[in-house]
Amino acid sequence: MFSQIAPRYDLLNRLLSAGVDQSWRRATVREALKHGPKRVLDLACGTGDLTLLLKKSAPEAEVVGADFALPMLELARAKAQKSGLQVRFQEADALELDFPDAYFDAITVAFGFRNFADYERALAELYRVLRPSGRLCILEFPPPPKSGLGVLYRFYFTRVLPYIGGLISGNAAAYRYLPASVERFPPPEALRGMMEKAGFRVRYRLFTGGIAALHVGEK
Ligand SMILES: C[S@@+](CC[C@H](N)C(=O)[O-])C[C@H]1O[C@@H](n2cnc3c(N)ncnc32)[C@H](O)[C@@H]1O
Repeated sequence: MFSQIAPRYDLLNRLLSAGVDQSWRRATVREALKHGPKRVLDLACGTGDLTLLLKKSAPEAEVVGADFALPMLELARAKAQKSGLQVRFQEADALELDFPDAYFDAITVAFGFRNFADYERALAELYRVLRPSGRLCILEFPPPPKSGLGVLYRFYFTRVLPYIGGLISGNAAAYRYLPASVERFPPPEALRGMMEKAGFRVRYRLFTGGIAALHVGEK
């Protein structure tokens, strides 16, 4: 599914979020780079927007983008080449990471964690490849709030977004999957609990009336 939507992925991101997603990504980068990490992993990097932002903000750091969808990685590599940024993009499955223990000082996962087939296993892998006192930043869409802005947002997310997403990407199912997966995703408190169970010390903040959430876990 992710391979199929890759060619129109960036365009739809900007269009469907009216560019707000970039401000959430910038906040994620600030959190991830707080302690000047030397090695950073952007897992489920997709077309590499967050990976490249990380490298721009921390030019000295070794930044790796990893994803299991090759067409996403190819687009990410082309963007890196165009911007002249030295970033390594490699194929990886979040449930079985091909990195040594305690290798990274910071890890980001933006809108990818929700899609992992086994959250506990992914958290165990993320914990394993992070060094002690390293940071894990998970940016995600929690289930929409039940009232206020949440009602409007739910309408947009379940009606408008699948229509436009289907039209432009040619894969309507992928843009129906998006709101369905968001409804199924654990609310922020529950995700905090899961991360704590995996060994992290966790805090989180909400963006744009609770549409997005950033969880920061320290090992
Ligand atoms: C919604 S995109 C997010 C991409 C990017 N992080 C961003 O912020 O635009 C989700 C990405 O997660 C990747 N993904 C899903 N499950 C994965 C897994 N088990 N291992 C690696 N990547 C995965 C998909 O291939 C896709 O590129």
